[in-house]
Amino acid sequence: MRSEIKPIYWRNNAIYVLDQRLLPYKIKYLRLKTAREVAKAIKDMAIRGAPAIGIAGAMGLALTAYHSRAKTVEQLLAELKRSYETLRNTRPTAVNLFWALERVMKIAETRCSVDELRRLILDEALKIMEEDLEANRKIGFNGSKLIDDGDGILTHCNAGALATAGYGTALGIIRAAFEEGKKITVYACETRPRLQGAKLTAWELMRDGIPVKLITDNMAAFLMQRGLINKVIVGADRILAKTGHVINKIGTLSHAIAAKYYNIPFLVAAPTSTVDFKSTPDEVVIEERDEKEVLYIDGKKIAPRGVRALNPAFDITPPDLVSYIITEKGIYRPEELRELSLTT
Ligand code: MRU
Repeated sequence: MRSEIKPIYWRNNAIYVLDQRLLPYKIKYLRLKTAREVAKAIKDMAIRGAPAIGIAGAMGLALTAYHSRAKTVEQLLAELKRSYETLRNTRPTAVNLFWALERVMKIAETRCSVDELRRLILDEALKIMEEDLEANRKIGFNGSKLIDDGDGILTHCNAGALATAGYGTALGIIRAAFEEGKKITVYACETRPRLQGAKLTAWELMRDGIPVKLITDNMAAFLMQRGLINKVIVGADRILAKTGHVINKIGTLSHAIAAKYYNIPFLVAAPTSTVDFKSTPDEVVIEERDEKEVLYIDGKKIAPRGVRALNPAFDITPPDLVSYIITEKGIYRPEELRELSLTT
């Protein structure tokens, strides 16, 4: 049995982040000691995936608290607010980052001594990480009920152990179904421009011995037409409780449209930390990344000199294309998500 994938952990007075930019060729951890270093790792996508960047953000605040020389709670709070601003200005779309930062900043309001506050903040960050792992196991358990023996499952981007505290959301369901003995084949979309499917999802599944075939993104609809795909499972960066819209890696919307056309269940797996109870679709900022990610592959230019490119990192799938949303609390239709606010 392979050891579990740990994308991020705390040891002594630093956090260690598995540098996902180097996978699948190299396994190397970055040692980060400041919130500024964590912010850079999030922005540069050494760590990525909605729940993982939330955990990294919380850990970034914990680093600030841990290394602070503040003599008063007021001084510590001022340092934390600076780190909070730096961390929240990294990636705008995944809501987990903001959720985790707010959660830690709420703890910082506790009335106690500076030393106690330092400890409380680190505890909260570690708790966010532990809870995510637990949530993923539950998502896996809940979602695997929807998977049948013999299913061909299409997935997009990487919603695996690397994108979370471990085990994964979409890949958590796939792992759980496989562990239950269901014979499944995963079709992993390569996910241009950054190739998270080819580099990360294929790596994770190969490591666990789960049958996987890599496809380019534009093959998905054809495989559906040929009857090879029985389910689509993706993760999410933000799910809007008010409307049921799902924001996830660019390309998700095309798969959802094709799945609807071919009557294939379209499943979204995410912890409740991904649910945004406030926003409407036009209020969500879709990250625009550097056009170089489209114009180059692994440092090699693939387009004529002077051509410009577009690079929106995420898209928005409307609720009528989504069959079920699988969370640690249960399985919901998109329009049922509002109920979650009563239990969260
Ligand atoms: O740009 P990325 O790689 O951070 O985007 C990741 C995704 O879109 C994932 O599908 C999403 O965060 C869910 S991860 C469990």
